[in-house]
Amino acid sequence: MTTPSAPPASQPEKRVVTVAIENGHALVTIDNPPVNALGVSVRKGLMDALAEVNDAGCTSAALVCAGKTFVAGGDISEFAGPPPLPHLPDVLDAIEASETPFIAVMHGTVLGGGLELALACAWRLADANTRFGLPEVNLGLIPGAGGTQRLPRVIGLEPAARMAASGKPVSAKAFEEMGGLDLVFSGDPMAALASFRDALPARPAKTSTRSVTDADLTALKAEIAKSAKGAEAPLIALETTALAARLPFAEGQAIERQTHLDLRQSAQSRALRRLFFANRAVTRPERLRDIEAAKIEHVAIVGGGLMGAGIAAACLAAGHRVTIIERDSASAEAGRGRVEAIIAKDLASGRIGEDKAEARRAKLEAGDSYAAAFDADIAIEAVFEDADVKRAVFTELVAVMREDALVATNTSYLDPNLISRGLPGQGRFLGLHFFSPANIMKLVEVVGTDASSAETMATAFAFARGLGKIPVETGVCDGFIGNRILSAYRRQADYMVADGASPYAVDAAMRSLGMPMGPYELQDLTGLQISWANRKRQRAAGTWPGRYVDIADRLCEMGRQGRGSAAKKGWYDHTAGKGAPDPEIEAMVAAWREEQGVTPKTFSNEEIVMRIMAAIVNEANLILEEGIASSDTAVDIVWTEGYGFPKHLGGPMFWAEETGIDRLREAFADVAAQSPGSWKPAGVFKG
Ligand code: COA
Repeated sequence: MTTPSAPPASQPEKRVVTVAIENGHALVTIDNPPVNALGVSVRKGLMDALAEVNDAGCTSAALVCAGKTFVAGGDISEFAGPPPLPHLPDVLDAIEASETPFIAVMHGTVLGGGLELALACAWRLADANTRFGLPEVNLGLIPGAGGTQRLPRVIGLEPAARMAASGKPVSAKAFEEMGGLDLVFSGDPMAALASFRDALPARPAKTSTRSVTDADLTALKAEIAKSAKGAEAPLIALETTALAARLPFAEGQAIERQTHLDLRQSAQSRALRRLFFANRAVTRPERLRDIEAAKIEHVAIVGGGLMGAGIAAACLAAGHRVTIIERDSASAEAGRGRVEAIIAKDLASGRIGEDKAEARRAKLEAGDSYAAAFDADIAIEAVFEDADVKRAVFTELVAVMREDALVATNTSYLDPNLISRGLPGQGRFLGLHFFSPANIMKLVEVVGTDASSAETMATAFAFARGLGKIPVETGVCDGFIGNRILSAYRRQADYMVADGASPYAVDAAMRSLGMPMGPYELQDLTGLQISWANRKRQRAAGTWPGRYVDIADRLCEMGRQGRGSAAKKGWYDHTAGKGAPDPEIEAMVAAWREEQGVTPKTFSNEEIVMRIMAAIVNEANLILEEGIASSDTAVDIVWTEGYGFPKHLGGPMFWAEETGIDRLREAFADVAAQSPGSWKPAGVFKG
């Protein structure tokens, strides 16, 4: 006889909020890894805890969090749908009104809903390393549980409006100075809590009942409007915070809540939330999750120019030992000087103190011998963009390095397979494409060769993440994900300039979309010579696609190679400091058109944007079809992190979806008709 199998014993649901009461004092612990987000289970747990401590008539209730941080916000994954009960504002109102007063004891990052929770408590204690912020604007939102209304009642209107509108966190020291904290402690939080409770001050007035002195926010508003560049949430956050001085708490909070809920539906917030999660998924590829990364301690960098020095500074900041290898000792010293200048700048700006600056300097070596790379765990070459030169560097490196150490090229266009072909230990080679300035820019394209081992890739991702970077995997093609799309962008911009648009109008149009600068301003900033060399290479190899416009080449021949060139000129005239449109260029472009027999057409601002975006989206789709990028979010991360595409527009792929593929199809048809034979249409644009 067979016994029917027993139903699986139901797992007791893990309690995310627990209460312990001792001598009339309660300890309420939130334990909801990874960041104690205020999801529905925590909100319910807090309501139950509140009832329990009040039923027990506790003298005080301390609110602490398990793990690496106090509450880091509402649960973003809940934001797509209607919020389940209980709602956070009600939970916080109840905590504020609680008979038993609450003491927030904080560590880690107290963000968004976490800070709102702390503001509803009677007292706030924090570890000295804690950071506080209202980062909702970074997700296209404003606080939704009283943050904009309680914070000004604690620290004053201007500082509160600044925190809510900028989204930038502040240190415990700064927050204490603003009046946000009752105690900052170092060491054991329980000891700090015990001594605070021993001399418990009189319970302060409930935050929501305090009044707010009005302040002139005009200057702050101008500052925020400038930095928002089309993002809508920052100014809304500022205006909503300003209500605290004019309306009773309940009215201000109701407006804040409704605005928060409305913004959850906005395209900007959806775009930013998608990037938030994509960022985490793309930087940790699924197939590498279970592969152990090798430990990286010593990094050798070949080439101490701008790029090499930036990479070195990033590695030093992450605590690695760094050796710069140059062709002679004078160049090595110049490389060291560049890295030290970056360290000095970080010191001068207050980003780091003298102790950290000294620790970084102490871990830096520079010399002219490859032998110094013998015990490096990874070597990164950042020399001249020429396959033979880079190959020679690789050959020198493999002669001295361990066979399990990684060898990476920082090429921005070349095929790492060619650079490493035939060298021993094929599994260890790869491309790591940093963006300049490498000590600041977060994007790193990780380019596997045909032979890169999974361990090499896992180590490269872990290494890049450890530098605080955003690594994105890309397949091999000319320019990888980012620069290949950039080439399409520039090509279409050039075609419009050739056919009648002013380069200054093209720049203005792309700025109107929200790009920090247009394609010609960008060329002036980065220098025209690299893309010139690259165009020559592609034309020599017969890989230049379609119509060729040589206006930029002519600028280069005239010595106008950008802001940093001796002439201090490129598309713009930079001789007077700030770049100014140059009538000489307008005349030269007009003469070029005449010479080519082009009858100039006019392009509206919208036409310029749509045609350029159609070219970008077409190239991005080709990249996806060819498997160069693994997902549309990977493309969007590359373009938002590496090329300044506005994050609130989500990246080119998200933007295309929101704009409507039919409108883009129309624009692409115009692009194709404008320059016949110059564009390979992606699947979505065919037919
Ligand atoms: N809601 C839901 N999940 C969150 C979250 C939130 N508010 N904050 C972080 N997470 C998740 C991440 O998605 C990640 O999940 P994964 O491991 O499945 O990929 C995990 O928590 C760890 O986050 P991560 O960013 O990788 O860790 P970190 O230590 O580098 O940074 C924070 C921690 C809290 C500083 C960072 O996650 C952050 O800024 N979070 C957003 C805070 C915020 O905007 N709060 C206001 C919300 S309105």
